[in-house]
Amino acid sequence: MSETVVSEMETSAGGPAPGAEPTSAAAVSSLAGRKIRMESKRLNFHYGPKQALWDISLQIPEKTVTAFIGPSGCGKSTFLRCLNRMNDIIPDTRVEGDVLLDGNDIYGPGTDIVDLRRRVGMVFQKSNPFPKSIFENVAYGLKINGLASRGEMPERVEKALRRAALWDEVKDRLDASAMGLSGGQQQRLCIARAVAVEPEVLLMDEPCSALDPIATGKVEELIHELQREFTIVIVTHNMQQAARVSEFTAFFMLGRLVEHDRTEKLFTNPGQKITEDYITGRFG
Ligand SMILES: Nc1ncnc2c1ncn2[C@@H]1O[C@H](COP(=O)(O)OP(=O)(O)O)[C@@H](O)[C@H]1O
Ligand SMILES: [Mg+2]
Repeated sequence: MSETVVSEMETSAGGPAPGAEPTSAAAVSSLAGRKIRMESKRLNFHYGPKQALWDISLQIPEKTVTAFIGPSGCGKSTFLRCLNRMNDIIPDTRVEGDVLLDGNDIYGPGTDIVDLRRRVGMVFQKSNPFPKSIFENVAYGLKINGLASRGEMPERVEKALRRAALWDEVKDRLDASAMGLSGGQQQRLCIARAVAVEPEVLLMDEPCSALDPIATGKVEELIHELQREFTIVIVTHNMQQAARVSEFTAFFMLGRLVEHDRTEKLFTNPGQKITEDYITGRFG
């Protein structure tokens, strides 16, 4: 397994070292010394004749939260789905460029898609528990991936529910239907299901957009906890949320990556005029 660490050399004032990928200089310098868990290189994506992503080179440092922001339709979800090949299931789509997970191209011929999706898990906008018990929802991924024996299952399910800050609320009714949980609980259950299989990266596409402010607060708190163990990428249309939960933010516009930097820098002193216009609400 090769390891990418952003070197100081790449971050010299002159921008990327000769031969380096044309990542924006600001992003590269803020990533100095960080271990990179995932990375896209010159990624283009097409839905049939329509190109949705142009030339996206982006590095995702491990064990922290990276937020994707930008106006609706700018390609955030498309890009997110490129990171675990979830777009493969959409007919007539085409990817060019590379996506590396621990240095290996996930679009390479040797990729086992089931294993990839275990390593790069996903939580969707609308919580989607299976119409089964709470226990079965969390055990599902462990079962299909053969990751736990029957005997180990209760312990693994409890661990996942604890990690998702849901255990105390459901421990007395693990056999009850997941459909009886509140929206916020269902979303935390989906997070439990995703973390149960010990992914390296957790992708979340607007995980709070259907939740009320209290449930949103709980999920945000949970994301903050989970970054100690997982590399997290969250799409959000809520800039306050990006500012609250992420260390790095990537701003997309019309299928391009405009700016990628430390969240604090991007929101207080953006490098691009268009970023400033967006974060100050001049369009979007
Ligand atoms: N399944 C699809 N088929 C065709 N076009 C799509 C599909 N999904 C998204 N698109 C188009 O790709 C572009 C990016 O969409 P999307 O990634 O959903 O943006 P965002 O998540 O930033 O709102 C949009 O123009 C959208 O209409
Ligand atoms: Mg989207």
